[in-house]
Amino acid sequence: HPPVSQLEETSLLRRADCRSKGGASGFKVAILGAAGGIGQPLALLMKMNPLVSVLHLYDVVNAPGVTADISHMNTGAVVRGFLGQPQLEDALAGMDLVIIPAGVPRKPGMTRDDLFNINAGIVKTLCEGIVKCCPKAIVNLISNPVNSTVPIAAEVFKKAGTYDSKRLLGVTMLDVVRANTFVAEVLGIDPRDVNVPVVGGHAGVTILPLLSQVSPPCSFTPEEISYLTDRIQNGGTEVVEAKAGAGSATLSMAFAAAKFADACLRGLRGDAGVVECSFVASQVTELPFFASKVRLGRFGVEEVLPLGPLNEFERAGLEKAKKELSSYCQWRCLSLPGFL
Ligand code: NAI
Repeated sequence: HPPVSQLEETSLLRRADCRSKGGASGFKVAILGAAGGIGQPLALLMKMNPLVSVLHLYDVVNAPGVTADISHMNTGAVVRGFLGQPQLEDALAGMDLVIIPAGVPRKPGMTRDDLFNINAGIVKTLCEGIVKCCPKAIVNLISNPVNSTVPIAAEVFKKAGTYDSKRLLGVTMLDVVRANTFVAEVLGIDPRDVNVPVVGGHAGVTILPLLSQVSPPCSFTPEEISYLTDRIQNGGTEVVEAKAGAGSATLSMAFAAAKFADACLRGLRGDAGVVECSFVASQVTELPFFASKVRLGRFGVEEVLPLGPLNEFERAGLEKAKKELSSYCQWRCLSLPGFL
């Protein structure tokens, strides 16, 4: 692959510079873990997003190949690749939004918690880079277990004195995407017309779909509620088992992450009424972090919305979710000597 010529380099930089300053409202976005199963299709989708002027693709393997490939798409965003820890700071400098799908995925028989020990260390290192190079960036954290990696990221930022809870968002959008699809199947309508709030966390019973608040308004039989709740909570395991050792959800996750990132960018641009579910620092319950609807704006999370009226089934589900979340390993990292 020939190196980018001086001429090309200058023209690419000029284009990026002019777009990020100009009325084209371009944002600078980095994907950390961009060569992975989620990272690659996510890079493709972000390269197609007209709100993105500069796209940085960072990974510890294969980043140059993925970058060369994606960069040939004739869409507006200028793409740059960064390989390995020595290039992390360049990958992050000046970014508006950092999306993190770095880490290992589940294999059959594993829970998201089993990933904790490896992914916690990866997330910590990447967040230390964010502290140094783009402390004001919005962070979309995908690496599992999200219920634990979000609190870890918060601690890294707190320790560095850069923490702002508005800018740290755990990505639970795939639970919403799945819920919309499965509910639409049951109702026999177009999944694009359905919106199911999913609250709590991002593992097992902590994933709580609020089927009484589905838009458009509808009602379900007890059997349908039990089927839908179970399928939404175990959608990830369904994919892990079908892939039989080849990883977890990547394509639907990339779709969900791109949708969520687009919502964050529209919020940053100043669009009104951008509301999505996310796992964030929260006072909606007594727990420090909780997923619920949030309103996105110029500074990230502008408002964490209340849960709204719950029926009896959902109130029982909420208690289970809270119990699980509070006994969770989310604080385990903090007791590891020297972890933070
Ligand atoms: P993958 O193994 O295909 O890709 C992970 C990528 O991260 C690899 O390219 C790897 O080289 C890279 N990586 C590893 N260490 C790194 C580091 N220190 N810095 C930068 N990059 C690094 O895994 P996949 O399927 O893309 O999943 C990634 C993560 O996303 C997993 O933790 C998985 O559990 C999680 N996930 C989260 C979901 C959610 O809803 N939030 C849904 C599905 C997966």
